[in-house]
Amino acid sequence: MNSMITLRGLNKSFGATHAVKDVSFTLEAGEVHALVGENGAGKSTLMNMMAGVLTPDSGHILLQDTPRALTSTLMAARAGIATVFQELSLVDGLSVAENICAGHAPVQFGLIDSGAMARRATDLLHRLGTDLPVWRPVGSLLAGQRQLVEIAKAIGQLYHPEAAVPRPVRALILDEPTSALTADEKLRLFAAVRELRLQGVGIIYISHHLSEVVALADRITVLRDGATVWTRPAAGLTTEDLVSAMVGREVLRAPRDEAVPGPEMARLEGVTRAGQVRDLTLSIRGGEVLGVAGLDGSGRETVARLLAGVELPEQGRITLAGAAHPGTLRRAMSAGVAYVPDDRKTLGLFLDLSIAANAVVTDLTQVARAGMMREALIHVAGVELIADQGVKAAGPDMSVRSLSGGNQQKVLLGKWLRRAPRLLVVEEPTKGVDIGAKQDIHMRIAALAREGAAVVIVSSDLPEILELSDRIAVMHRGRLTGIVDARSATEESVMALASGLVEDAA
Ligand SMILES: Nc1ncnc2c1ncn2[C@@H]1O[C@H](COP(=O)(O)OP(=O)(O)OP(=O)(O)O)[C@@H](O)[C@H]1O
Ligand SMILES: [Mg+2]
Repeated sequence: MNSMITLRGLNKSFGATHAVKDVSFTLEAGEVHALVGENGAGKSTLMNMMAGVLTPDSGHILLQDTPRALTSTLMAARAGIATVFQELSLVDGLSVAENICAGHAPVQFGLIDSGAMARRATDLLHRLGTDLPVWRPVGSLLAGQRQLVEIAKAIGQLYHPEAAVPRPVRALILDEPTSALTADEKLRLFAAVRELRLQGVGIIYISHHLSEVVALADRITVLRDGATVWTRPAAGLTTEDLVSAMVGREVLRAPRDEAVPGPEMARLEGVTRAGQVRDLTLSIRGGEVLGVAGLDGSGRETVARLLAGVELPEQGRITLAGAAHPGTLRRAMSAGVAYVPDDRKTLGLFLDLSIAANAVVTDLTQVARAGMMREALIHVAGVELIADQGVKAAGPDMSVRSLSGGNQQKVLLGKWLRRAPRLLVVEEPTKGVDIGAKQDIHMRIAALAREGAAVVIVSSDLPEILELSDRIAVMHRGRLTGIVDARSATEESVMALASGLVEDAA
């Protein structure tokens, strides 16, 4: 057999955590091989060994049946393995083109040929069906656009122009590539993946979106607690098959009781911000979960940012429980607002601090007073957060950076839930979390609302919005096109409002 990548008996431990246990795996040319498993199952650790980020403790990596030591990302890239990491690695201050061509910018007479660089970036983005302006700084992009830039960058590494002869190994590893993409962007990514497959690229696809995995993959490998459960052809497998292999039990869907709307907790009245939202009027009551749906550029994120006090209205006004919005996040927090942004890496978490420190960082007054007891209180807060959110971690002193992606998300949400907010504003609440943990998070959010808090969910994941919300506010190009009851709404009815095809005068 002539596999592109063969893993033989790989092992990797971090202290007492045996993250990857004796895993064997092959990637063939021209196949999409999906890797699934619960949060902390070892997926990212496994791909980091193929990407040259981590060195295995034991076992072998073979490229075209030849053992290779991949000791750096550069070495893996040169060997033909391009990677899109779960946490994006773009440089905010650089342009889209500079990010995409980083490390392989076209050079003429010893200088970077910016025209050629722009053309290359534009071409690569076209493959993904998008025509982002390539000179925009990456820092100004929406989360989904950033993700597409990252993917374009990796595809660019596979088609490095200096490698005129096609390389024997051309592998693309995608770790949770769709976590920030809209439905439309996802479809275009899948089309690009299928095209790469036709060209003989081997693709490793890691995702918690199991229905997408079943539709896209040729073969699927399931990991549980670091070990392989099985590898099977995807044809004929169902998402239920995957779930039971991943968790070894059935995942129950939480029944949702009806909302009992309480007093108004927040109100937007005729709010306008040029280019973002126009004449927006919306009321959110205690006891309810309000979903905000819309395509990219609809202004759905702006609703979250306005409520959080991160952005201010240019016209109109915002009130919190009847009083004028204080206008900054810090003051809004004192008024009982919690805001969970969609970018956990830059806005939400201190990656190099411990779980315990992150648990209390939004609530420092509480521990600052405690003097001698401080360390102990912080420790307890970490222990509680781990237990409450079901975080998979060695202990509260573990740095957040060393947690798996889904477990980082649990810490992020957990630190805000601890504050028992009156108004919780969450973007992408279950980004990167596995299917079991997703149910847990949904239950916790519903419970918070049932205790009287108002919850606003902004998500690109329409099925999630439908499942979690009581009412759904749908936006199109900065305007509210309708507010629908989530129990009677369907993906189609929400999409019709989101695309501006119909307008519900409610
Ligand atoms: N640098 C590290 N130090 C300590 N432990 C680590 C480190 N990196 C990973 N781990 C641990 O290894 C285990 C596997 O983590 P990994 O990131 O591979 O999971 P995953 O399958 O990618 O999960 P997710 O779906 O949440 O991204 C986890 O228990 C994690 O906490
Ligand atoms: Mg991971």
